[in-house]
Amino acid sequence: MYFPTMRMRRLRKDSRIREIVRETKVYKKDLIYPIFFKDSLNKGEKEEIPSMPGEYRYSLEAGVEFAKKLESQGLKSIIVFGVPNIEQKDEIGTPAYTKDGIVQKAIRLLKKQTNLVIISDVCLCQYTSHGHCGIIRKNDCADFGYEILNDETLTYLSKVALSHAEAGADIVAPSDMMDGRIEAIRNTLDENGYENVMIMAYSAKYASAFYEPFRKAVDSSPLTGDRKTYQMDPANATEAIRECELDVLEGADFLIIKPALPYLDIIKTIKEEFNLPLVSYNVSGEYSMIITAIEKGFLKENAIIESLTSIKRAGSNLIITHFAPYLLENNLLD
Ligand code: PBG
Ligand code: ZN
Repeated sequence: MYFPTMRMRRLRKDSRIREIVRETKVYKKDLIYPIFFKDSLNKGEKEEIPSMPGEYRYSLEAGVEFAKKLESQGLKSIIVFGVPNIEQKDEIGTPAYTKDGIVQKAIRLLKKQTNLVIISDVCLCQYTSHGHCGIIRKNDCADFGYEILNDETLTYLSKVALSHAEAGADIVAPSDMMDGRIEAIRNTLDENGYENVMIMAYSAKYASAFYEPFRKAVDSSPLTGDRKTYQMDPANATEAIRECELDVLEGADFLIIKPALPYLDIIKTIKEEFNLPLVSYNVSGEYSMIITAIEKGFLKENAIIESLTSIKRAGSNLIITHFAPYLLENNLLD
């Protein structure tokens, strides 16, 4: 049976019909909001991020107030990032794992004042003087005159994750891309009585150009070189399956694909291959492109829901996105 008997447009006839045949929907509960806490800001202060129009770095108190507001509008989870004082940065990223670090303070206050699911980004790059996600050692034969040490870095990442768990994080999310970090963190958490703290692994994290606005926002660009010896080559897909496989074996509870929009094929493949909750990171560059086009009038705001819907349609269960406040404030989702 085909035209004129069969007519596809019948299923698009009006908004009631379209609503009941719609296959994919983004819900408020699917959103994870990435929030930036900056140590040097005064109580109540926030600072606009030039590379990410409409987004801010918050002081402890201002950030928690904002999180409370989002929670009242239906937000369920938040992922916490820290911007430490510049003079505290060192070779080994000490401010990432001190008890009174900015992230640890933010987690404690969020835990006390909200009922949000608290996720913490576990990495060293905002906290190291060189801006890399791991410990470095001079090596004249290496591309930029130094190498990023894998196994040594695991010790520090484990300290960071433990300090976040101690502060009250529900989930830790390592974003460094060192080998073996999920196992190292799982063991450390378990040995310290945090066997119920979950690990959301940035399993397939690509060496992407779309992180640029974030790096400007949190001052985490590598001083020299790039992240290509640890983050994945954007050209590779099968390698993403191996990365996820290993993280699952090491004990990951959630898998993250990052970025999202330029990697929808990876999201789809990983959803088909693994039975874990899948998270996509709609990164800073994806946010800034769309928000800037909207500001300029080149796009309308409906581009936001369309792009997030495509991420869910590809197979993502949860989406980390800077668009969360816009969607919640305007009550655009169920
Ligand atoms: C660092 C980190 C990055 C992002 C989250 N954690 C960037 C990077 O690898 O340099 C990117 C987030 C975004 O662009 O929104 N480990
Ligand atoms: Zn990092």
